[in-house]
Amino acid sequence: MDNHFDVIVIGGGPMGLACAYEIGKRKASVLVLERFQCLNQKGSSAGVSRQYRIPYPDTYMVKMALDAQPYWDALQLRTRTPLMDKVGTLWFGDPTVDSTEGNIGAAEKALQQLNVKYDSLTVENIEDDFHFKNLPKNYTGLFQADGASINLAATLQSLFDLNNKNPDVHLKENARVIKIERKDGIFYVSTSEKVFTTPKLVITPGPYINEVLKLQEFHVAVTYWEMSSAYFRRKDPNIQYPTWFVFQNAIEANGNQFYGFPGVDWDFPGYIRVAPDFVIQPLDNPENATHKPDPQALGYTAQWVKDHMTGLDIVPEHTSTCLIALSKIKTKELLLDFAPDYIPGHEDIVIYGTGWAAKFIPFLGKLLADMALDGKTDYDIAPFQLGLKYFTSLKR
Ligand code: BEZ
Repeated sequence: MDNHFDVIVIGGGPMGLACAYEIGKRKASVLVLERFQCLNQKGSSAGVSRQYRIPYPDTYMVKMALDAQPYWDALQLRTRTPLMDKVGTLWFGDPTVDSTEGNIGAAEKALQQLNVKYDSLTVENIEDDFHFKNLPKNYTGLFQADGASINLAATLQSLFDLNNKNPDVHLKENARVIKIERKDGIFYVSTSEKVFTTPKLVITPGPYINEVLKLQEFHVAVTYWEMSSAYFRRKDPNIQYPTWFVFQNAIEANGNQFYGFPGVDWDFPGYIRVAPDFVIQPLDNPENATHKPDPQALGYTAQWVKDHMTGLDIVPEHTSTCLIALSKIKTKELLLDFAPDYIPGHEDIVIYGTGWAAKFIPFLGKLLADMALDGKTDYDIAPFQLGLKYFTSLKR
């Protein structure tokens, strides 16, 4: 392996692998430095499934979910394993709730604006057609048929395999970056073993983002969170759930927002995954992650399943966790930007961080590759260029 590359990507998770894949397709040389092994369980790609959904309260998010579809289709053509199970997206709950994921009515408006088909649901529809029970009578919902459960593990494996087959793409695991310097337009990126050079950096280390940014003396305001998931055995194999999210007001420490998945053959077959979408105990530092589920969060989840779902054993038999960095911005936006202008070579440093972005993986890979190789992208990323607000110099 030569030491010089057209681009160095720091972080070999989904975004780093997708970016390297796109750079490799453009026949530029790229090195991915991953501090652990690729496909590890220590970051935000831990666990196996994610939701692909189109409903969002903002039209630019709906648009990006739609724009991501052809990139998923193209990736699917390059692998035999199905990357998605298209079971649809069900959003339901209290229509007055404006939660971290938005609001049901606002999402309906955004879908209408972009001519996306969906069905509006009454509480009776939700109970009769989707197996939920004892829901408050004021609940409403929407069903959007293109939603899917993403096989995240297969997505990562496919990108990893495709990258390994491309001689322009180099993956280096167990390679933690410990120093970044810049001289005469070239970055010198050091691991404990070697120094690599490049004119262009892409920074995609997931929850470890500030570990990397601090090497260039700035940081981003994030909340670190270990999200817990519980798996409930399906007693009735005929009951299938779509991917779903319930909007409800918090009850003290119980954030009371939950989401779930269908039973799939790639993630504890015979079980259904349900997870809480609220932070009880943020972490000060991603290095302090326990990778153990929070018993309080699991308790609230199991209670909700017992009260409102049917066809399941009510005691969770498996659990999983995933460590994420969420933006301090209320709606948990994605951050996709160049480094701030007080950083030397800022226009040659592309950063992706925070938010829920699994549904955009192949598309964000292309945007990151364009930003690195062309210094820009034709896609309107203004809503995600949040650096001005959320980067802070550590020198000041
Ligand atoms: C998402 O699709 O972005 C999402 C789904 C469930 C919980 C949080 C986010």
